[in-house]
Amino acid sequence: MSQPVVTARACANIALVKYWGKRDTALNLAATDSLSLTLDALTTETTVAFDETLATDELVLDGHPAKQEEVERITRFLDLVRSEAGVPIHAKVTSRNDFPTASGLASSASGFAALALAATRAAGLTLEPRALSILARRGSGSAARSVFGGFVHMHTGSRNEDGYAEPVAAVPPNFLEQLRMVVAVVGGGVPKTHGSRDAMDHTAATSPMYRAWLDLVPKDLATAEAAIAKGDLEALGELVEANALAMHASAMAARPAIVYWLPATLGILAEVRGLRSSGQPAWATMDAGPHVKILTTAAAAELVQNALVDNAGVTAVTISAPGGPATIVDASKVVSLT
Ligand code: PMV
Repeated sequence: MSQPVVTARACANIALVKYWGKRDTALNLAATDSLSLTLDALTTETTVAFDETLATDELVLDGHPAKQEEVERITRFLDLVRSEAGVPIHAKVTSRNDFPTASGLASSASGFAALALAATRAAGLTLEPRALSILARRGSGSAARSVFGGFVHMHTGSRNEDGYAEPVAAVPPNFLEQLRMVVAVVGGGVPKTHGSRDAMDHTAATSPMYRAWLDLVPKDLATAEAAIAKGDLEALGELVEANALAMHASAMAARPAIVYWLPATLGILAEVRGLRSSGQPAWATMDAGPHVKILTTAAAAELVQNALVDNAGVTAVTISAPGGPATIVDASKVVSLT
């Protein structure tokens, strides 16, 4: 028996309208739809080799053996691939993130998208992008979006097969090309206080603002996608910043509170408002951590980067263009398993 050794690459994505809360924890179905932009400067490359000599799955992350709980998460995911492919053997997974230095930025989106693609191909399956997105979702909700490039819409789905992402259809020519995301890393990669999984469940269970968040998201999605269809960056940017603040408001109102921000996060938000009042296109968004991502244009990206780099508590500022879909990097090597 021989299985190919497959390497796949996927880009991270940043939600423009956030996913925050699940309707089904076992299937990892989101409570609402969401919208994201895939980024080419934040990538994960993952190699999967099924090997019948292994007694357990093995995971090497950025050159080091992964922690037990990370291996268990990968094993639960590989079990889905094994049962679909009928390949009952363990795998060695080697994964490397190319993210801004010590960023502490979440890599689960690019990580599970790359793993879904590499593992299915290594197990002999070729899935359609939609099926790949559904599978990636089981690893991490946002990973379903990293299967695709550009603007991506994720469907909440009431059943497993309805919870998938797909590219946004109506994007005017050249709109994506003129966009940039400036990623300001705050706090030098300090481990995050609450993982997104637990934090969104805790928000849903205890925040008096959570109902308002659920009511808001469909309206924000309609506004954001109308702005994209018109190529109206200002309308999109305003919506993106407002939606992120609403997500954080719902988390901050949880009991006990979930506060991801550090002083530098607020410093950057003030700087971004200042840039806007001086006529620059810049709108901020934050996820389950203190870092700030600023939606801007290719023309203004360096100015935004320079405005942020000297802020106290900012450890790195990277400019990213929109990224493409998950791809196979190498599937040529074949190991012989007897
Ligand atoms: O996919 P997860 O479990 O890492 O959750 C993602 C949560 C946010 O990044 C805060 C929002 C989003 O839609 O990506």
